[in-house]
This record gives sequence, structure tokens and C-alpha cells, in this order.
Amino acid sequence: MRRSLVVGNWKMNGTLASAELLAKGIIAGLASSDADIAVCVPYIYLPSVSKIVKDTALALGSQNVADKSSGAYTGEISATMLKEFNCQYALVGHSERRSYYGDTNESVAARFCQAQEQNITPVLCVGETLEQREQDQTFQVINEQLDAVIDLAGIAAFKTAVIAYEPVWAIGTGKTASDEQAQEVHHYIRQYIAAKDQSIADKIQILYGGSAKPDNAKGLFAMPDIDGGLIGGASLDAESFLKIFQSI
Ligand code: PGA
Repeated sequence: MRRSLVVGNWKMNGTLASAELLAKGIIAGLASSDADIAVCVPYIYLPSVSKIVKDTALALGSQNVADKSSGAYTGEISATMLKEFNCQYALVGHSERRSYYGDTNESVAARFCQAQEQNITPVLCVGETLEQREQDQTFQVINEQLDAVIDLAGIAAFKTAVIAYEPVWAIGTGKTASDEQAQEVHHYIRQYIAAKDQSIADKIQILYGGSAKPDNAKGLFAMPDIDGGLIGGASLDAESFLKIFQSI
């Protein structure tokens, strides 16, 4: 039986005060659960939010991690630095990183490895654009995104990783994939991993992301290959994020 996981992605939103308030609000509303919950906060708020979540069930994550371990890489944040603030998760390959900041399949794979070297669980984001879906390229795009990581890290690395399927056309658009559309791709991803290692495929958590909200989370989470969510907009409000978490 896989554990479920809900991860909030705060993106570039809020202030220090609102970030602290949001973390405290989530913690205050957390009932004991069999599922795991985390928030990926802006780098600069990690020190502060790290203190707030210490000794609570709310885990901490970053929204990215450098593809190198240290050195002359102005503006980057290394996995070692993230570890100092108890990051347990790091998003890698979020579509906004891929489309606005030039993250490539290869650099995403390197980021994935950097996170794992510090025992930070990478949350590998994959997903197709609307154009790619309309041209029936969804599975091919996902193969390429997964293969880059498998080629560099090996399939065994997926023992300690999470995959997030985020159709780009559903991110921040209010358009959610239907339960069946999401399940179809989640199932595909699990089969793709299973062809290389069945036991890893059985265990890996595959999250859905893309306009997941309190009113559609239950249906998505009920799908057999959907193990939780990566939540953007709806994670900026403690109540709605908690409602999504409770839908698990
Ligand atoms: P959204 O974002 O929930 O606002 O669509 C999801 C994500 O980008 O992780």
C-alpha cells in the first residue's frame, strides 16, 4: 500500500509574514493522518518556515535545486544548503522552470541527482503542453522526461523519488484534467517504470498537479494510480490546502 502525499507549491507568492502565517495555519489545522504533507516555499523563506515546521507533521520542500554541488554558479542554491534548513523534498523540472528558465531534461536530471545526494527526495515534474496533447505526443514527451533521469540516475534512484504529473495546460488555468484523463497518464507512467522495475513501480508515489482544488481533489485522489497532489494556487490558503489534504 502506497502512502499518500500532498505537496503545496507556493511559487513566487506572499511575504515573509504571510508565509509564516500560512505555515502556522496549516499546522494548526492538521489532524493526525496516514498521509504525508509538505510545502515547497520560496528559498528565502526556508530558514523561517523551517523553524515553524520543526517537530510537526508538515514537511518542508524547495521549488528547485542547483544542478551542481557548489562553486561559481551565481544565483543558484545547492542541495547542501537546502539540507541545512531541513528540506525533505525538492521540486525538479517544474514546467514553469522548464518553460521560463530554460531547465532542460538534462539539467533536471542533474538536479534530481543533486537532491538525492543530500537525501532530499526529488519531486520530478513531468507533463505535456496543450499543443503536445493535441498532437498525441503526451506519452512521448513523458518518456523523454523520464528517460533523461533514468539514463543519468538509473531506475533504482526512483526508490527514493516522487513523480508529479502536471499537464501544463492545467497549471494555473482552472482547467483540471478529468479524473480519467489524469488516471490514464498516471497508469502509463507506472507501467513505464514497471517495465524497468516492477517493485519500484508499485511503490513510487505519483502525484497529480494542475488546478487541483478542494472540490475536485476527492475524485482525482480516488483514482488507483494517483497517490496525492502537487497543489499550486489552492495551497496558498490554509483552509483550502487542508481540505485537499483531507480528501486523501
Ligand atoms: P496550480 O499549480 O495548482 O495552481 O495549477 C500546480 C503546480 O504548478 O504545481
